[in-house]
Amino acid sequence: RIVPVILCGGSGTRLWPRSRAAKPKPFLPLLGERTLYQDTLARCSDREEFAAPMVVIGEQHLDHARTQAADISPDAIFIVEPTGRNTAPAVALAARSVDPDDIMLVCPSDHFIADASAFRRIATEAAALARSGWLVCFGISATAPETGYGYLRRGEALEGGYRVQKFVEKPELETAIGFLADGGYAWNGGIFALPAGQFLEELATHRPEMARLVEDAHSGAQRSGSCLRPDREAFAAIAGESIDYAIMENTDRAAMVDAAFGWSDIGNWNAIYDHRKSADGTNVIVGQGEIIDSEGTMIDTDGPFVTVVGVSDVVVVVDGEDVLVASRDAAQQVGNAHRSRKQ
Ligand code: GDD
Ligand code: MG
Repeated sequence: RIVPVILCGGSGTRLWPRSRAAKPKPFLPLLGERTLYQDTLARCSDREEFAAPMVVIGEQHLDHARTQAADISPDAIFIVEPTGRNTAPAVALAARSVDPDDIMLVCPSDHFIADASAFRRIATEAAALARSGWLVCFGISATAPETGYGYLRRGEALEGGYRVQKFVEKPELETAIGFLADGGYAWNGGIFALPAGQFLEELATHRPEMARLVEDAHSGAQRSGSCLRPDREAFAAIAGESIDYAIMENTDRAAMVDAAFGWSDIGNWNAIYDHRKSADGTNVIVGQGEIIDSEGTMIDTDGPFVTVVGVSDVVVVVDGEDVLVASRDAAQQVGNAHRSRKQ
């Protein structure tokens, strides 16, 4: 089986004020009718190809996750974390909950993928590679020296992919510039195809303490309906770490496929602007507003009428009582900007 494992965590603070702790980025309809989480489920909803998905999610967001899955994946199973411990424990819990022979298709719930059928084709190829014992990453063609991504150094060719010679998570800017100039590196897309049993073996090798606590959390888990709740104490005792640092940087069984399916992690308002702007104009208005003598400007308001005059390349977002005005260039800094404001 290929079992989709959908990861929902983090708070998406760079998309404030629309994205909030109570309703973060995956659960917002940012680029269409459906939310990013619903799109993620829909990409894996063909039950001839994929088994019922496992959604790993914090208790505080469970209601959104269940409601939004009801139509698309009524068969979803929810692994409910008492507190977030980052992605390595989340994936490990899922690995304990499926068969050792299953391939987990780990999918972040907050990415945009333009070509869903290319995604399905490439995911199936990645799963085939994973069946031969590889921990498979999805390589995205790198176009900028981003420091928020992992980097994959392409190694020797394998049947249906490549070996990853080196995995470097979130490098310093200088290192990232070097990787880009070198040309032999791809971004890690954050999607993985993993043989469940083998993943747990790698975890036991590289993070034995985490493996032990995940085992305890799983054996003490409580089931109710479609929800599985790991033992609270054991899970809370885990030192949080991402799968990238804990496993992918350390394993010598990493492989990659080329993931040309129009991937974007929609990290900030500028990325949303890029997706929304049309060929015939540089301004974007969602809700009620007007833009005069300005270019490259986006207004997104859920109520008040917004007018922008004579300043260009700005983003104005209104959500209830909160207003963001940011230069598009500085959109990446929004995450640090509203700490004094209630979430
Ligand atoms: N269930 C659960 N619990 N999910 C979590 C948790 C957690 O504690 N923490 C994060 N997630 C989810 C996020 O919601 C997201 O969907 C996914 O796991 C990845 O976590 P991020 O926090 O967004 O990771 P990142 O963006 O810094 O880095 C990862 O993604 C990049 C691509 O976007 C890495 O895999 C990088 O190597 C990669 O380049
Ligand atoms: Mg991310």
